[in-house]
Amino acid sequence: MAKRHTNRVYDLESMFVRLEELVLANSGENEFEEVFKLLIAKLWDEKNTKTRRFKVRADNNETYSEVHALLREAERAWPGILEPGARPGLTPEHLQVCVEALSNHSILDSTFEVLDSFFEFMVSRAAKGTKGQYFTPRYVAELCVRMLAPHSTETVLDPACGSGGFLVHALNHVIKHEQLKGKLIANYCETKLWGFDIDDRAVRVAKALMVLSGDGKSNIIRVNSLLKEDGNSLLSTQSKDVSTLTVEDVMRTHRRRHKGFDIILTNPPFAGEVRERQMLDSYQVSHGKIRIERDILFLERCVELLRTGGRMAIVLPHNKFAAKEFAKVRSWLIQHCRILAVVGLGRHTFLPHTHQKASILFVQKRAERQAATIDENIYFALSEKDGKTSKGKLLLKENRTEDGPIWDRVDHDFDEIVTGFRTFCKQENIRLGS
Ligand SMILES: C[S@@+](CC[C@H](N)C(=O)[O-])C[C@H]1O[C@@H](n2cnc3c(N)ncnc32)[C@H](O)[C@@H]1O
Repeated sequence: MAKRHTNRVYDLESMFVRLEELVLANSGENEFEEVFKLLIAKLWDEKNTKTRRFKVRADNNETYSEVHALLREAERAWPGILEPGARPGLTPEHLQVCVEALSNHSILDSTFEVLDSFFEFMVSRAAKGTKGQYFTPRYVAELCVRMLAPHSTETVLDPACGSGGFLVHALNHVIKHEQLKGKLIANYCETKLWGFDIDDRAVRVAKALMVLSGDGKSNIIRVNSLLKEDGNSLLSTQSKDVSTLTVEDVMRTHRRRHKGFDIILTNPPFAGEVRERQMLDSYQVSHGKIRIERDILFLERCVELLRTGGRMAIVLPHNKFAAKEFAKVRSWLIQHCRILAVVGLGRHTFLPHTHQKASILFVQKRAERQAATIDENIYFALSEKDGKTSKGKLLLKENRTEDGPIWDRVDHDFDEIVTGFRTFCKQENIRLGS
């Protein structure tokens, strides 16, 4: 009898590498897409069928037909995870090898963290260094969530959601603090969590991870979050695509009387400049400029998307906090938001993806514009343990194994930072959620 594998992330990773060697590399198909489809077919099978259908059959063509049928069912049940009409791109012979390898693993027996790490492994292999396409380290996402303490009544947005890490951590936070169960979890995901990303694959991965952590209903939508409304808003939302659809279009369709998001948690891409005239002129921070860094536009856009009194955590490259050339951006920000906290992250935090040093900015949107010179206290903290080696590998606490929540395993100093921030908020009479 085939041995069932315990699901550690390295088991899944080594299975992927082996399949790559055996079939994927020579198949002419996109390796990520083929394994992704197989994982979704398998996940659907495990969740919904009593007798396992995702298994090798004597005839390769039969295996192929069954996997194809599972994909069609998954596509109907979880719209948007698979490309429309997805079918295995591998030949029945190659597919047989992959199904055999994968059928030894149980997806639902794996912890969410194992699957999350496996998706990260696959995405970063497929991205082959594409700038800005990496997962935010999960303990950093958790730090933001713990500091802003979302409540289940509050809407949460990530306008550059990638794999949806911030949303999953927000979900886990409210589940834990408010003991949400069953329908309440589904309702929270369906009405309160919003994730937008311009990249189709990021959207599909985020939806898949939401299926694994919630119940499959989520508002993860392909949108260029930087795009603002213009004359095109007269077009119906259905007739728009990613080149014209705006966050406002989406919210108008889904939520009447939407007055902005209660919480934004985000890590926009650090790299890249925007040069489109129309876009530059639609932002205050870039009006009249010939180009601007994309993260600065994200900062202004996020403030715009917050409701008055709403709070935000945004990860930004360190130069935005310190460099003289961004002084005007900082002064624009102070006029529109109260700066609650700045947390400096260690140099290794985003390795192996980028060497750039980053900090997290925590703000609350003001009701009215204030003078840029306003005198308010800010909580500053500098992390001295970034939880990674200089090669970007996770540094675990002593005696920790590979299992358990990443927050508990990784050698970071974020607990002290959260405690310090809570004390600061009490002293300053700043009200957060739960
Ligand atoms: C650093 S990644 C975010 C990672 C995410 N927090 C996670 O944990 O997976 C930045 C994301 O911004 C997305 N992005 C870049 N430009 C965008 C735009 N104009 N609108 C929406 N998303 C955008 C990229 O596709 C990428 O997924």
